[in-house]
Amino acid sequence: MSGKGQGKTRPQEKRLMVYFREYCDYTGIHGFRYIGEDRTLAERIWWTIWLLLSMIFCGLMVYQIFDKYINYPVLITFSMKETRLQQIPFPAVTICPRAKFSLSHFNITAVLEKMKADNITEEEAQKIGYASAVCEFSHFNKTESYSREGFYKFLNESRPSSIFKYCSYLEKEPDCTEFFKPILTEEGVCYSFNILDKTDMFRDNVEFNLPDFHSTSQIQHWDVESGFTASQIHTYPQRALRIGQKNAFYVLMKTRKSDIEYECPMGESGYRVILHFPSCYPDVTENHFTVPLGQSVTGVIIPHMIKTSEGVKRFHPQTRDCYFQSERPLKYFKVYTQANCLLECKTNYTLDICGCVGFHMPSKLSE
Ligand SMILES: *[C@@H]1O[C@H](CO)[C@@H](O)[C@H](O)[C@H]1NC(C)=O
Ligand SMILES: *[C@@H]1O[C@H](CO)[C@@H](O)[C@H](O)[C@H]1NC(C)=O
Ligand SMILES: *[C@@H]1O[C@H](CO)[C@@H](O)[C@H](O)[C@H]1NC(C)=O
Ligand SMILES: *[C@@H]1O[C@H](CO)[C@@H](O)[C@H](O)[C@H]1NC(C)=O
Ligand SMILES: *[C@@H]1O[C@H](CO)[C@@H](O)[C@H](O)[C@H]1NC(C)=O
Repeated sequence: MSGKGQGKTRPQEKRLMVYFREYCDYTGIHGFRYIGEDRTLAERIWWTIWLLLSMIFCGLMVYQIFDKYINYPVLITFSMKETRLQQIPFPAVTICPRAKFSLSHFNITAVLEKMKADNITEEEAQKIGYASAVCEFSHFNKTESYSREGFYKFLNESRPSSIFKYCSYLEKEPDCTEFFKPILTEEGVCYSFNILDKTDMFRDNVEFNLPDFHSTSQIQHWDVESGFTASQIHTYPQRALRIGQKNAFYVLMKTRKSDIEYECPMGESGYRVILHFPSCYPDVTENHFTVPLGQSVTGVIIPHMIKTSEGVKRFHPQTRDCYFQSERPLKYFKVYTQANCLLECKTNYTLDICGCVGFHMPSKLSE
């Protein structure tokens, strides 16, 4: 079968050539025919080059689409489905007074003046060290002895006794202390309405917050993923039941004239207010708005709810770029939210680098 001049070609290879020509003649893929036909070598090379180029181009396009599927398998589409307002909790409202001390307990101006005159008692020096943790000035004398308990005691004793005058929500007008719980943030003692209780927010052996921030309420009928599962009106956390100014959450705050000073809050007086999700621990320094003294501020809340479909669960968290509640257990928090995770992350880093954590960070009780 071997022809002249192709003496070295073995029969199998010859057969392959025939098959290839036949394939080129009959295939529907454009361009192959010109390679198989009896054309000049230059022409065939020309076509081969173009065919190869187009195949590479196609391959690249397929790769791009494949890559997109692997890396971004989750698409976000907005379906404008109305949800009843009752399905979502009212946001938590955290209020941090800028006047952090009751001056009759701890006159920071007087103590700073005494410090300048170098006539300061040891107790006052210790107090100013504690105060510098929540104020902008820095005075931390290493020779003084500081303790965690001493710091909490100082904060508890020297905070203004009451910053609320009147509160109402959904036609209830209780004593404001029923609504607001003291919590500890970077700003010192703040007061939070509708935030989850310590027992529901933090794991059991985590030490955090003011000693009198205690509660035994257990969360029921609500979680972030399934929403409210019961139909009663008064839930915990509270729902937003009605809309409008008339049903608003209303707070009147007070600051004693004698408690206003300008050393600690550095010129800014009034209150810092943060609205956040009830299961998030608030980060005051990152986002807040300021309510000045002697003025009224009205806020409008427009909730946006993004639901994730069940189908997304089968993707790995790394590919879908988010976690479900059960997928990322935190060391300090019972509930996973991005804000809580970030706070924990900061705590981890602080612990790694300093061997201790800031007073506004959770820490584990030694077992
Ligand atoms: C605090 O100290 C300053 C300066 O010594 C004084 O003017 C002010 O009256 C004191 N305030 C109170 C509430 O004692
Ligand atoms: C230091 O403070 C004491 C009282 O706290 C006062 O009697 C004394 O005069 C002060 N000394 C100076 C130098 O200011
Ligand atoms: C720190 O306190 C010690 C003793 O109370 C005192 O001698 C020293 O001057 C203080 N240092 C500063 C920087 O205030
Ligand atoms: C905090 O201070 C109040 C008085 O201002 C006191 O009744 C309460 O027992 C203190 N709590 C703690 C844990 O020290
Ligand atoms: C913090 O560290 C602990 C272990 O020490 C770990 O289990 C936890 O996941 C870390 N948290 C974050 C947010 O990385």
